[in-house]
Formats: sequence, structure tokens, C-alpha cells
Amino acid sequence: MSDSKERLIIFDTTLRDGEQSPGATLNVEEKLEIARQLSRLGVDVCEAGFPIASPGDFEAVRRIAEEVGPLMEGRTSGEPMTIAGLSRTSKEDIQRAYDAVKAAPKHRIHTFIATSDIHLKYKFKIDREECLEQAIEAVTFAKSLCDDIEFSPEDAARSDPDFLVQVLGEVIKAGATTLNIPDTVGYRTPDEYAGLIKYLIDNTPGADKVVWSVHCHDDLGMATANTLAAVQAGARQVEVTINGIGERAGNTSLEEVVMAIQTRGNQFPVEHHIDSTQIIQTSQMVSSYTGMVVQPNKSIVGANAFAHESGIHQHGMLQNQETYEIMRPETVGLNSSKLVLGKHSGKAAFGKRIEELGYKIESKEALRSAVNRLKRVADKKKVITDADIRTIVADEIYQPPEIWKLNNIQVTCGDNTTPTATVSLCDSEGVEHRDAALGSGPVDAVYQAISRVIGVKGRLIEYAISAVTEGLDAQAEATIRIEPVNGDSGTKVNPQTGRESVRSYSGHGASTDIVVASARAYVSALNKMLAFKDGAGEDHSDSEGTAAVNI
Ligand code: KIV
Ligand code: ZN
Repeated sequence: MSDSKERLIIFDTTLRDGEQSPGATLNVEEKLEIARQLSRLGVDVCEAGFPIASPGDFEAVRRIAEEVGPLMEGRTSGEPMTIAGLSRTSKEDIQRAYDAVKAAPKHRIHTFIATSDIHLKYKFKIDREECLEQAIEAVTFAKSLCDDIEFSPEDAARSDPDFLVQVLGEVIKAGATTLNIPDTVGYRTPDEYAGLIKYLIDNTPGADKVVWSVHCHDDLGMATANTLAAVQAGARQVEVTINGIGERAGNTSLEEVVMAIQTRGNQFPVEHHIDSTQIIQTSQMVSSYTGMVVQPNKSIVGANAFAHESGIHQHGMLQNQETYEIMRPETVGLNSSKLVLGKHSGKAAFGKRIEELGYKIESKEALRSAVNRLKRVADKKKVITDADIRTIVADEIYQPPEIWKLNNIQVTCGDNTTPTATVSLCDSEGVEHRDAALGSGPVDAVYQAISRVIGVKGRLIEYAISAVTEGLDAQAEATIRIEPVNGDSGTKVNPQTGRESVRSYSGHGASTDIVVASARAYVSALNKMLAFKDGAGEDHSDSEGTAAVNI
């Protein structure tokens, strides 16, 4: 990184906009884990949530501020991560956001109001004058609580640029320190968006006193291109998410922006403080916890991103890697192992490789369990690859608190028989429970039997199974999503639409047997759902009248 480059602030909104993805549900512990990993990754600002949404959301942001806010491990910027909380423009919202983030050594209130005529007319039923007033009042009140204030004119990319100049000029006077320009619906092309950023920087009074930020959505697949074009036009903060998760088609992906700037440094006048070797780990953690599977051809973090299939490519790669590789896999954390692990490898070798891959497993029990499982897989499979190790470790450590534990399953199925499953599970006190059920297929039979034992049912709304490596002896990874069949297991509030939706719960499981992988995934999702129900997730969106406020 050169001295002449300006600092690009990486603002991660995985835990706020990312968590607004349909189906992504994270509990407090998972949010804390992800925030810790974002801190190790070197993220500058972590938008930890929308605190007014529910006591559970508030608590997650508060704990992140208190427990993750001060962490310094691996941070090359030499500064702790700023913890931000989102709020609309009401005093109640802003106060709640401030109360949630204030324990962090560096904290920020991020307040927003839409400025496009279509939002003003149909969402708020207010005119521009009223919008301007609310924006000024919000920033003035936020500034009375804290120094670091970000303001976003939602749907800025479809707002009248001259009205934006007026609003932004006034909020700078009221104390805003970062101005974020969202392309909320992912509508703009790179040239248009960069043009808007330049226009605002050139015309807004006081523009040189603030950091200009960009926030893009991927509805037309242009989020990364728009973000990078805006950086070339003067933006110095980018709002991004891991794996690009977020509302609808998602947000700009952190890994794409960071690696574009790192790989094509001469195209950008900025530098960042991200430790790119943490990217794969972070991606896997977010995917496991949210249940949002990364598509194989996804840039940087997809399973095929560094795979070279065709003979011509492989031949070229053997002569010189640069023939087909513009980034080394190691730079994103994909270390290639010199050691071949298999049936004859000892537990120490597996433990060492887990460490080399960057996992920090604090619980000895979890490490032992992962190593034992790897040994068992090695008995069935000739070679254990890094992908196998990552899958098993993720299956062991990125799991909700184990209220129920799957012991074993037995299934009979075939083309002329009714699939039947017998399952054995242990409850939280270690007491074994068994039951059996019939089903339309082996997975259905196992799910019915598990539901009989646990006494709750989840309606399966997504089910995906994929092979971790090639070959018939490959491990399978099942990722599922369920909704409670009856009974209240919490709702989720979208800060932008004000709409409440029923929470769904993801689960994942791995095994060389697809039915066992599916069973593990179901128990994992049920455990997550039960934790919310029992209050461990502490999501009671409709309590205390704090949520579901239409805006
Ligand atoms: O997309 C958007 O406009 C947002 C704002 C709340 C920043 O997420
Ligand atoms: Zn957004």
C-alpha cells in the first residue's frame, strides 16, 4: 500500500442489511461470533443491527458494542472497529440506537429517511419540506448524543439531485460526519451512479468536511461495479456485506470490492485495512449461520472461484499460474496443503491442519469432536481435502446451542416399501429418546420421527444438498430452512418497509450419507427455532410496543 493513497473505510452491514435477506435469521450468539470475525477481518465500521426492531435486536447490538467493540486482535488499522446502529428519524429510534452502541469505544448512529418523490408520496405521504425538516431534526438530536453521525437519504439514486444537495447541505450543518448515498433498489449504471456522487461532492455546501459513502444493491447485478465507480468518483466509504447477502438480490459484496482494489491497485486511489486472508473463513461462517449457500461460481468465495477444470487451463497453470489466475488463492485464505491426510493420519495431523486453515476453536470438546469425525470420515474416504475439513469443522462449530443432539438414525427405503425411520436423540439433560415414523421418502420419514421425539414440527421451506468434493465417497452438505408449523417463534421487522415477517430458521449438516446430513440439518434448525422460542434468541418483536412501526 502506498503512502499517497487515501484510506477507504470498509463499512460492513452483514448484520443489518444482510440480515434483512429473506430467510436469514441470526441469534445473538451468532451475531456476536460474526462480529468478532468481522473485527479480525479488519472491517472499519460494523453496522450491527436495527436496535429498535425488538429487544433481541437491541441486545445483540449492545453486546457487540460491549464485547466486540474494544477488540484489537489482527487489526492492522491500529483502531478498534466502530459499531453502528441504524435508526429512522424519530427520537425514540435514535435514542435506542445510541443506547445500544454507546458502550463501544468507537460508536456511530446511522439515521435515514427516504428522499425520492415516490417514497415521499406513497410511503410517508409527506412533501419535500417535511422530509428536510425531519432529516435536520434527526441529525441534530443524534449529534446531541454522539459525535459520529451517518445520514442516508434512502433511495438517493432515484431522488432529485438538487433536493439531495439541499438535504445533505443542511444535515452537514446539523452535524453529520458521513453522508451515505444509497442506490436502494439497484437501479443505476456505474456511469450514472459515479456521476451522481461527483455531482453531490461538487455541489453540496460543506462537502469537504464529511466522508462520502456508497451503498448499492444488486438488483441488476451492478452493485460492485457501481461501488467501484463511485470510489473512483470520490467516495471514501463503501457499504458492503459478506457474500453480498442482503435485501432482494443483495448488497455489494465485501470480498469483491476488497479484492478488486487489491488486485487492480493502479485503478483506485485508495487503500484498505482488510486482512484478505480472513475472507474465506468469514464467508463460510456467514453462509453457515445464515443458511444462505454461496453459489459455486460466486467471485472470490465460490467453490469454483479458483478451480481450473479444462485441460488447456490446467496445462497453462502448470507452466505459469498467472496464465489463468489473477489472484493467488492464498491471498483470500485458501491455503493449499502440502500434506495429504487420510486414513493413516493421526489426530494431531488433523488438529494441526484445522489450525493451519485458520480456525480458532476455543472449546477443547468441539475440537476433539471435529477431529474424531474427520478420523471417521477418513475411514470411508481415501483422501481428506481442505474442503472436507472446512465442512466438518463448520458442521461442528457453526451450530446453535445444542438443545437436542442426534445420536443415530436407521432408515429402510426402496421402490416397493414405505420408507420407515427410527431415530434416537438426547435431550439437554442427556436422556435418550427414541421414536419411529413413516414418510413419503427417507428424509421425510426421518424428519417425522425427529419431530415426534422433540414435539415440535418445522415446515420445510428450503432444502439443498451438495457434494463437498467430487467422487462417490464425497461428503454431502445439507442446508435447510424451516418455519414453525404453529406457535409463535418470533417475527422480524424490516426497517425500510416497516413490515413484519415470520422468522424462518436455517440449519446445516454434513455427512458422507445424505440422509444423515439431512437429519443433522433438521436438528440444527429445530435447535435454533427452540432457542428463539425459549427466549435464548430474545426476539419478541411485538412486545413493549417498540417494533412494527410503519414508516
Ligand atoms: O438500501 C438502503 O437504502 C438502506 C438504507 C437504510 C441505508 O439500506
Ligand atoms: Zn440497503
